[in-house]
Amino acid sequence: MKQNIIPTKARKVRKAVIPAAGLGTRFLPATKAIAKEMLPIVDKPTIQFIVEEALKSGIEDILIVTGKAKRPIEDHFDSNIELEQNLLEKGKTELLKLVEETTDINLHFIRQSHPKGLGHAVLQAKAFVGNEPFVVMLGDDLMNITGNETPLTKDLINDYEKTHASTIAVMKVPHDDVDKYGVIDPNGEVSKGLYNVERFVEKPNVDEAPSDLAIIGRYLLTPEIFDVLETQVPGAGNEIQLTDAIERLNKTQRVFAHEFTGKRYDVGDKLGFVETTIEYGLEHPQIGANLKNYIIEKAKELSQDDSKNITKK
Ligand code: G1P
Repeated sequence: MKQNIIPTKARKVRKAVIPAAGLGTRFLPATKAIAKEMLPIVDKPTIQFIVEEALKSGIEDILIVTGKAKRPIEDHFDSNIELEQNLLEKGKTELLKLVEETTDINLHFIRQSHPKGLGHAVLQAKAFVGNEPFVVMLGDDLMNITGNETPLTKDLINDYEKTHASTIAVMKVPHDDVDKYGVIDPNGEVSKGLYNVERFVEKPNVDEAPSDLAIIGRYLLTPEIFDVLETQVPGAGNEIQLTDAIERLNKTQRVFAHEFTGKRYDVGDKLGFVETTIEYGLEHPQIGANLKNYIIEKAKELSQDDSKNITKK
């Protein structure tokens, strides 16, 4: 029996938590000494896209949960007086603006000393969040980075303002990929693209997955999630899973799923990272046109190679 334990008066969503304590093993050796969140898409570290999405969504305070080799993240969002002075003296005002854009943000850092899983990382935010709804934004998923669409985080906040309930972003993925994600068992739509959820399952087997709707790294959560996380036992991969805690939260209060239909970039995957770089590069004012020409030429060359191979056969 679900109880509605959310106070009827909606609380403003002001805080975001960005877990960034992972070891980034998929990107070794690049991530031996620097955080994977600092790997750039052309000229912008991936974590900056996340921070920008948070700010565009009206978030006022951001907590980054960091681990080893994460100091560069703190430095990136700090002022660098020497660099700023140098750019100022050389009259490089555009670059100065870019550098300064990343400094005046209410950012907080906490270290997760033992990487015990995403749920454990989010639990580190308990004191920062207090008794407020908040968002969790995963650094491996970038959304709509080349367009001007409403950020997905803002969509979740808009949902919360109507329902006062936790809402998890999901997206249809190819069926064979469902075992890489948290997956929902939807139980009817309450409005277009907003689902009631019967069950949340972390990394199900492909043949047992309840749907192809996968969790994609944006969560709006009520603070009651912390009580659940405190008693959460390890699940898939022997890690404390956020999805498992959400499944338990959904037993005591409603948790919805919001279907995202925009463009998602998986920068936690090598191929996804390269694709993101190309797509962002194509829109980049300095290199877009030349990159496009390069890709056209390269595609011709590759198709000639292919036709040669076919003739040989
Ligand atoms: C995490 C979550 C998973 C979610 C995914 C989205 O998994 O545990 O539920 O679907 O992020 O990117 P990870 O990619 O850390 O294995």
